[in-house]
Amino acid sequence: MQLRTVGSAFVGTGIVGEMHGRAINRNPTSRLVGVFDRDESKAAAAAAKFGGRVYAGLDDLLADPDVELVHVLTPLVSHLETALKALEAGKHVLIEKPVAQEIGDLETLQQTAAKADRLCMPAHNYIYTPSIQRAKRLIDDGSLGEICGFWMFFNIYHSEEIAARYGSVLRETCIHHVYSMLHLLGRPVNVTAMKSYIHYEKLEVEDQASIMCQMPNGAIANLWCSFAANDPTTDPWSVLYKVLGTNGGICYSWNEAQYEDNRGPAWGLPCYEDGFAGEVEYMVNRCILGDQGPLSTLDDAIDALKIVQTAEHAVASGRGALEVEY
Ligand SMILES: NC(=O)c1ccc[n+]([C@@H]2O[C@H](COP(=O)([O-])OP(=O)(O)OC[C@H]3O[C@@H](n4cnc5c(N)ncnc54)[C@H](O)[C@@H]3O)[C@@H](O)[C@H]2O)c1
Repeated sequence: MQLRTVGSAFVGTGIVGEMHGRAINRNPTSRLVGVFDRDESKAAAAAAKFGGRVYAGLDDLLADPDVELVHVLTPLVSHLETALKALEAGKHVLIEKPVAQEIGDLETLQQTAAKADRLCMPAHNYIYTPSIQRAKRLIDDGSLGEICGFWMFFNIYHSEEIAARYGSVLRETCIHHVYSMLHLLGRPVNVTAMKSYIHYEKLEVEDQASIMCQMPNGAIANLWCSFAANDPTTDPWSVLYKVLGTNGGICYSWNEAQYEDNRGPAWGLPCYEDGFAGEVEYMVNRCILGDQGPLSTLDDAIDALKIVQTAEHAVASGRGALEVEY
């Protein structure tokens, strides 16, 4: 029996496009129909590597009936406009993090997706790995007892040139920490944060940030992100999750497997790649071809942005922990 496949198209074929390309190639029910990038040479290189055609523009891509799912892989500034056009054209949308700059933009996406009866799923890739899903199960079924603490560390050096594509570490990268915390532990009550400026010379944004959150039961979440330093010590970790409860804990690190691939940040870390593969497989197989909802939704993206905004206010006010207004 022939599998029904879902045709995907990419808007944007930069660093993260590589991971989406690998994810499509790993999922038997996905196929890359085509790509559009305003830099045509990048689009041509992605199509040559992962398959599909090169579109002349976004309208051309959206007019293709073979495209069911649009991956929005451009920088944040064009996420909203691209995703709205795709939804209005009747396509499902997988949209990179951070999904949008403002809560109102996320609500507009929700309303447009509902009206079009299409799925708009945030690309919250880190949680779509088997290890995080095992952690979620052990937390939810009570095996770990009452949760006391959560740690998520991210130490991946980014050159100023690459970091310039992303901007604020707190807003752009800590969003991974925050949606992971929301997925595993739920909503925090209070948030405080600190950020620092270590190695950028031209960029006027922080390259390190630390957020602390308190959960309703008193558990404390510690979220750390650095673009300033790798960790080369005897127990190195690029990205590490730890959850401790009164009855046990879990520890999961991307150091499980590594190989040399320095063409993009974390490209040689299979756990990173697995998150994208899990996300694409989940969206295509369980959501589009099945009847399930995403593990992390636009509602979670709204909560995550509110938590990051509260952290920004805590930094700006210097007043310690602030209550999150959901
Ligand atoms: N989920 C993750 O782990 C992860 C990792 C890296 C980046 N990201 C996110 O992915 C997005 C893209 O990041 P990146 O590192 O791939 O950036 P990038 O700069 O490497 O690539 C972006 C590409 O989009 C193209 N582009 C820009 N505007 C466009 C437009 N309006 N229409 C068509 N093409 C356009 C550019 O030419 C470029 O090729 C960002 O939102 C970033 O935060 C997510």
